[in-house]
Amino acid sequence: SYLGVPLRTCEGEVMGTICSFCIEPRQFNWEEVKTVELFAERAATAIDNYNLYHQQLRFNQVLEAEVEKRTSELKEAQAQLIERERLAAIGEFAAMIVHEIRNPMTTIMMGLKALTKLTLCDRDQTRLRLALEESNRLQKLLKEILLYAKPQLLQLEQMELNSFLEELLANLCQMPEAQRRHIKLMPVQPAVTIMGDKDKLKQVLVNLVGNACEAIAPGEVVTCKLALENEPDCVCLTVHNGGAPIPAEVLPKITQPFCSTKPEGTGLGLAIVKRIIEAHQGNLSIESDSEQGTIISITLPIVKN
Ligand SMILES: Nc1ncnc2c1ncn2[C@@H]1O[C@H](COP(=O)(O)OP(=O)(O)OP(=O)(O)O)[C@@H](O)[C@H]1O
Ligand SMILES: [Mg+2]
Repeated sequence: SYLGVPLRTCEGEVMGTICSFCIEPRQFNWEEVKTVELFAERAATAIDNYNLYHQQLRFNQVLEAEVEKRTSELKEAQAQLIERERLAAIGEFAAMIVHEIRNPMTTIMMGLKALTKLTLCDRDQTRLRLALEESNRLQKLLKEILLYAKPQLLQLEQMELNSFLEELLANLCQMPEAQRRHIKLMPVQPAVTIMGDKDKLKQVLVNLVGNACEAIAPGEVVTCKLALENEPDCVCLTVHNGGAPIPAEVLPKITQPFCSTKPEGTGLGLAIVKRIIEAHQGNLSIESDSEQGTIISITLPIVKN
């Protein structure tokens, strides 16, 4: 004989059966049925509670993950805001100082240049040349501080990258640091168009190609390669060079202003590049080790046809 009582959830849904079997045939009396019904009810409540508890646990986990995600987004947004405010404050301060230094600097340089017309002994000529070189370096530094500190207001226009780079790299070969180095371009097919500020992106390439040329020996190659990235729709420009890699301990702070390993470097090149690329909604990443050399990658959103 068999007695079966359904296990029902609190919503009345059947989730199983409590089964009682007896070898011999017999009738189950009312009390026995009631007992099994009571047992089934208790068991169903316990199973229901267990399921609800686990549902609650899963819900808590989802909630916690969501809160964590939102908190980190908020933190990032806050950090960006602080960074923007910090840059704005530095920018204003730097612009003021640079302005104050530039005018007397121009006068000093004019004076020094006038002195070059005099007939001077060798020692004084050397002194004068050094003074002029240092003044030029100071002027370059002032210009770079302004470039870094000023808000990046872009003059956006449609740019086809293959031809932009081909033309630009042909000019960059003339830079003093590019002498006796080979600059190779690997274009992308099909050609891609971005919205960019030509002058600012030229500045980016001057810095990246300049750095790459300075890192390699005469006769070596700097490779600029364009490639498509699908997720999201971006173009990736990589500038690759061999030579000594960026020391691992310097790498994390390499895009911070004034971080340089060169005796004459201002350390503003990559900081400026980062600001310009971020103003274009792009990304800058740097890899460097003794095996693959240094690869600077820039991703920029493309304009879809
Ligand atoms: N392509 C590269 N290969 C090897 N090292 C690099 C490369 N690019 C940058 N570096 C390292 O990163 C440092 C910072 O570069 P960054 O362009 O910001 O400043 P800099 O070249 O030293 O000075 P400047 O402001 O005059 O450009 C360099 O001093 C160099 O050590
Ligand atoms: Mg540089």
